[in-house]
Amino acid sequence: MTKEAFNEIALVCAEERPDLVPAFAELGAAVWPKFIGGDAAIASHWDSLFSGALRRHQFLILGPDGHGAERVLATSNSVPFHWPDLDDETTLPDDGWDAVLARGVEGAASGQRPNALCALAVVVTPKVRGSDLAERLIENMKKSARDAGLDALVAPVRPTRKSAYPLASFADYIGWTTPDGAPFDPWMRKHWQLGARPVKIAPRSMRVGASLEQWTVWTGLRFPVSGPYHVEGGLAPLMADRETDIGLYEEPNIWMRHRLEGAGR
Ligand SMILES: CC(C)(COP(=O)(O)OP(=O)(O)OC[C@H]1O[C@@H](n2cnc3c(N)ncnc32)[C@H](O)[C@@H]1OP(=O)(O)O)[C@@H](O)C(=O)NCCC(=O)NCCS
Repeated sequence: MTKEAFNEIALVCAEERPDLVPAFAELGAAVWPKFIGGDAAIASHWDSLFSGALRRHQFLILGPDGHGAERVLATSNSVPFHWPDLDDETTLPDDGWDAVLARGVEGAASGQRPNALCALAVVVTPKVRGSDLAERLIENMKKSARDAGLDALVAPVRPTRKSAYPLASFADYIGWTTPDGAPFDPWMRKHWQLGARPVKIAPRSMRVGASLEQWTVWTGLRFPVSGPYHVEGGLAPLMADRETDIGLYEEPNIWMRHRLEGAGR
């Protein structure tokens, strides 16, 4: 029997297609700065997103590869978590992304009932950027949140172009707007166009601490004196300490909250 040619766009989750789980890491490796892999929360918790019930919140978009087979065009990750006070947005954690990943994974393991969904990542392969895939994946997160009976969708958004403006403070940068009043940063703007609004800065959303030697491997830079350094792909400076031989990178993100029609919020 010949296999039917694959010629359409399909959205599937990791629970339906466990064979495609390696594609999440493959797509990610091509786009994230190398040092992000040194985030301790990723080391402890990321793999848990691909086992048990959390798998149904990890999505892939498949498309034709031009030879009748399928190929992964885009992925998204999110995690349900318990947010003690949905009406008090100041309670979203300052250690945003890391905190929610840990909270979601540990909550799922202990049987805690989640009430919110947190977007963790969207990756679109460079060749098909500028299509509507990123939008579809965000819309799909809203649907997943509603289908799972959750009351909120939030995202510790990583403003994708901040690294090109290292001299601007994070707080200033996220306030920049286009002439028509939309957020200047394209990824914040995408969330905003889909109904999200900025809530608060998560000043230490992702934290990477490592030896200066390891930072040299990741960035190609050397650190002759203690102090701040701009690293490619970084949204904040790396702080190098020659005395302790430690480089600490604390990445700010901006918490954004989507409107979840049908969930009453
Ligand atoms: C972020 C990402 C998912 C967006 O995918 P995409 O297919 O480019 O998304 P869109 O086409 O919807 O583009 C989003 C906006 O970015 C703009 N944009 C894209 N590249 C840009 C660039 N280099 N500079 C400025 N704006 C840019 C687009 O014009 C669009 O804005 P508009 O809708 O107002 O015109 C994709 O770029 C990606 O995978 N990046 C690497 C991973 C990442 O950073 N993910 C986000 C954090 S989780």
